[in-house]
Amino acid sequence: MEFSKLFIALFIFQVKFPCNMSTQAAPANSNLFREYIGAEFNNVKFSDVPIHSSVEFHFIISFAIDYDTSGSPSPTNGKFNVFWDSDNLGPSQVSSIKSNHSNVKVALSLGGDSVGDGSAYFNPSSVDSWVSNAVSSLTDIIQQYNLDGVDVDYEHFNADPDTFADFISDGSRGLTPENGFFTACSRLKSRNKLIGIFIWSADDPKKNGFRYEKQSQALLAISH
Ligand SMILES: *[C@@H]1O[C@H](CO)[C@@H](O)[C@H](O)[C@H]1NC(C)=O
Ligand SMILES: *[C@@H]1O[C@H](CO)[C@@H](O)[C@H](O)[C@H]1NC(C)=O
Repeated sequence: MEFSKLFIALFIFQVKFPCNMSTQAAPANSNLFREYIGAEFNNVKFSDVPIHSSVEFHFIISFAIDYDTSGSPSPTNGKFNVFWDSDNLGPSQVSSIKSNHSNVKVALSLGGDSVGDGSAYFNPSSVDSWVSNAVSSLTDIIQQYNLDGVDVDYEHFNADPDTFADFISDGSRGLTPENGFFTACSRLKSRNKLIGIFIWSADDPKKNGFRYEKQSQALLAISH
């Protein structure tokens, strides 16, 4: 199917920008912590988020979207633009947080739920033209921001959602922090099967003092 070809292209693209963000390896404990960040108008900076020095910390800035930046954005067939809070999360801030913390890497995420007032659709004219546009526009963004990896998070599809959805894992479902999440993590860790903790997202928990970020990283930092 055409969409698998697309993903192979994205996978190769990711390999081209080595970032050690792959989770393909057999499950085993690691100290990997990932968190999305970047909603506009929330004013959350990298430096707001607690970073434990004993975890491998990946920020995933979100989102780059293949839509134009007009008042009512429309699809561009793979030509990506920056739709995150680039005032707070610009190239100089990326460089600063990485040089302040040797355990931090920064990736970007493609897609997301919405753009402007509507849903952000994955809407390629053809796979080949989409991939070609995506590689060139993302290369520019990745070089400008000196990023380490690419994450894919399309949530709306104009074609063939089932095939595409197989590739997406939705981290928003499942256990909540109040209800079993940390117990499950501890059990997995004791069985040497905790590959990391990924959080969506840093844009809201600033209000509660990043409580679950601290709790997650403290768990991950226990020697493994
Ligand atoms: C990826 O990990 C390997 C081994 O763990 C390391 O040698 C290499 O420098 C890492 N690459 C990057 C880009 O972090
Ligand atoms: C990096 O450290 C410098 C010096 O402590 C500080 O001024 C700056 O805000 C830090 N940058 C980030 C993004 O944390």
